Parts: sequence; structure tokens; C-alpha cells
Amino acid sequence: MGTARKYAVIDPGTGKIDRSIFSEQAIYDDEMEKIFGRAWLMIGHESLVPAVDDFFHTYMGEDPVILSRDGQGRLHALLNMCRHRGNRVCRVDDGNAKRFTCTYHGWTYRNDGALEYVPGETEAYYDALDKGSLGLIEARVDTYAGIVFATWAKDAPSLEAYLGDARWYLDTVFNRRDGGMQALGPIKWLEPANWKTMVDNCSDNYHVPTSHLASARVQTRWLGRPPLSHEDQFASPNKHAFVNGHGITFRDADDNTPRYVHGMSKETSRVFRQYHEATMPEVERRLGPLRARRVQLGNHSVFPNGILGLRLALPRGPLKTEFWHFVLVDRDAPEELKRVIRIGSQANNGAAGMFEQDDVDNWRQVTAASTSRLGRRHPQDLSMGLGHAGPHPDYPGLVSERYISENNQRLFYRRWEEFMNAESWAQIPLDPIKARFDGTATMRGLGAMHKPACVLISSSPPDNRGERPG
Ligand code: FES
Ligand code: FE
Repeated sequence: MGTARKYAVIDPGTGKIDRSIFSEQAIYDDEMEKIFGRAWLMIGHESLVPAVDDFFHTYMGEDPVILSRDGQGRLHALLNMCRHRGNRVCRVDDGNAKRFTCTYHGWTYRNDGALEYVPGETEAYYDALDKGSLGLIEARVDTYAGIVFATWAKDAPSLEAYLGDARWYLDTVFNRRDGGMQALGPIKWLEPANWKTMVDNCSDNYHVPTSHLASARVQTRWLGRPPLSHEDQFASPNKHAFVNGHGITFRDADDNTPRYVHGMSKETSRVFRQYHEATMPEVERRLGPLRARRVQLGNHSVFPNGILGLRLALPRGPLKTEFWHFVLVDRDAPEELKRVIRIGSQANNGAAGMFEQDDVDNWRQVTAASTSRLGRRHPQDLSMGLGHAGPHPDYPGLVSERYISENNQRLFYRRWEEFMNAESWAQIPLDPIKARFDGTATMRGLGAMHKPACVLISSSPPDNRGERPG
């Protein structure tokens, strides 16, 4: 396990950060162990495995993982590595199967991870093989409002504690309806960028009027979307908050605005508005009036690599990221609305999305700059708004005075340091849950009138599993 290396990459007094964290292989290797080996990671959504024996192939950092639903409806996250020599036991993206058979020598595992069959168990192994100890390596799994998370760390806190008061904000998008959400996708692509560049960008609204100038003008001209300017951004009453590692931007306004933005245009705004008004009584019952009517979640990140909803920055070396783009829609929304949101989301942030193209170019160059020996002598400057954030009487977390701030980015890198310097979860601080969660919505997404289809979670893995290899 890890090394004794201690990190001090951000100077809290100046906001300067060491660029080597975006390109150094040894730091990246440590991240795989100390961040991706212990944090709760988004790996999928319950709607991707709705029926018993469904599975969906995903990743925890670089490690291939099968998200399966066993015959009892329980979810499992299983390392896709045969316990014999290490072959992958699942070679497809998704499907329905009671068992996974390794194509090297035929060891066969049940979809709950147990090793069920070994060719030649008597003849070749003389009945001496301890099959009970050779199940697929299993991570802990839990769900938040249908989004599936997993962790390799036995000592990790509960997912509820991990999300903490960030859930107060996240609920306003992901926990609105009794019927929950549905994941569409993913679209996958590779980006020549370090994974952290896209996470810290989730709280960067400073770049929007510059980087996205052309894209925003297209939207204003053809879709009737409001224009974007620096003046608007600097005068915006929107907020910027940080909770337990998670970066949040949000708006508190009594303007009765539909929550979805992707796909919104002059032509489609009627559909959005009708849906918003028709569902408001249910949303208000679930979230209480403040969160239902006023709080509007904007760009956000879930530590370490969840980006703007269920979109994942999967590290593939210090200079490369595999990006997975899902679209989450309310399961019971009208099909017309789902279609418009899906197309709008892809047009903005899909592989060929206008905004995504703008962003990737920035992240690529930020990453490339960190490979320069000369460039690395000069740290990044994240000093914007230093000393202008703190607790707020109405909102959870540390809240910046202004919408345009780098407070969340500074705190993201401080969180990164906390993970990288800790020997175990006992050394990683967690803010206590203090927010008032009005309404009936729960961690599992259930409202008073919701009848769950299948929300069972696997119990803790047996002692012989749950270890992260290496
Ligand atoms: Fe899987 Fe041999 S590597 S059965
Ligand atoms: Fe952007």
C-alpha cells in the first residue's frame, strides 16, 4: 500500500498550486491508491440494471468492474478479474447473465461474485482448491437516488456521510420525482487531459463568457437562450459552495424556472414549463418549498471524479482521461421532453457538443503546460476571491460571497491533499450533516408514495474479498 510521501501542492495563503500534479506519473500512481482506492466512486445507475441478473460494465478509476444485480435483486460491484490468472470474466458492455465464465480456463462465477465451478476441481486440483476464498473481488456498494456508488475501502464512512450536506443541493435535481431518474448512455471518448482539470472546471463560471463565447452566441441566436457576458456573471446572485469535497454552484430565486436547461429553446420552452408546473406539488412534497421552488443546482462535481450529474472523468494515466457522458432524465417525464433533453445534452456536452469542445481544448492545454520543465517552475494561480467565503446562515457548506470565485477549486485541491496525505479514512475529515432536509425524499430516493422496484444493496462483502489488489 501507499508511500509516506506527503503533499503540499496548494498554498492556502496565495492559492498557488504546483503544476506537477497534472502530469507526474508517481503522483498519478498515488492517486489511484489513495483517492480512487478509497473514495466512494460513482459507477452507474440503477436504471442500467433494472432486472435481476442484469449487469453493466463500468470502472472504478482504472479498474474494470461489473455492476451486477443478483437473483435476489441485490447490487454488486465486482472486479472484472478472474481469481486464477487474471483474465477478464466479462467482455461486453452490458447484458443479462446468471454467471460469468472466464475464457482462459473456464472458471465460472455467479453474478454475486461467488466462484461456482472450476473445470477439473477433483481431477486437477484433488478437491484441494478453496473455492470459497476465490470469489471475484467485491467492492462496497450503495446508492443515492438511484445513482450507484462503490468503494474499495472497508473503513470508508457511509455514502450518506460521504455526500453529507452536498445532498441538500444535489436533491434538487436528482431526487425530485417519486419515480426516480433514468440514465441514458453513456457516450464515451478519450480526452488528452488530466482528470482533475475537468473536475475543478465544474466550479469555474469565470471561463464561460470567454471560452464559450461563440457557442453561447449560437444558442442565443438560434435557440433564443439568454446572452452570456462577463457583466452578467459578475453581477449574478448565483452562489458557489463547497461541501465535503463536492463543488456546488446554485441559484436561489423565486422565479419558477424549469430545472432542466439542456434542450431548452424558444420552441421547446412550453414543454419544459408545463412539466415543471405539473410536477411542482410532488417535488414540493419531496423536498420542501425552499428546495423545490427556489434552489436550482448549477454546475457541480462529486469528489473525486463525478462531473455535472452522472458524467465520469475516468483516469487513464496522468495525461489522458476517458470521459463517460450519461444523460439523466426523470423516469416519468413525457417522452417528448426526454428526447429534447437528450438531444440538447449531447449538443452541449456530448463528444461533439459545442461547449464540450471549447472546454476540452482548455483542459488539454492546462495539462500540456504541466509537462513543461520551465512551466512547472511557475505555479497555477487560484487566488480569486481568497478570504471571501465562509459559512452561510441559509445554505450548507462554505459559501463564496460571489458566484465568480476560485474558492471551490482551492478547496478541491485541499481535499485532494487530505486524501493523498491520509494513511486511512480515520485521517480524512468529514463535515457533519447539519442541513435541514425538508420533505419526504430520502438517500435512496424514496418519497412517501414511491414503491421501489428493486433497491436492494448487497451486504458487506465477505472478509476474503473487498481488498483492492496491488
Ligand atoms: Fe480465468 Fe484461468 S485465468 S480460468
Ligand atoms: Fe465550460
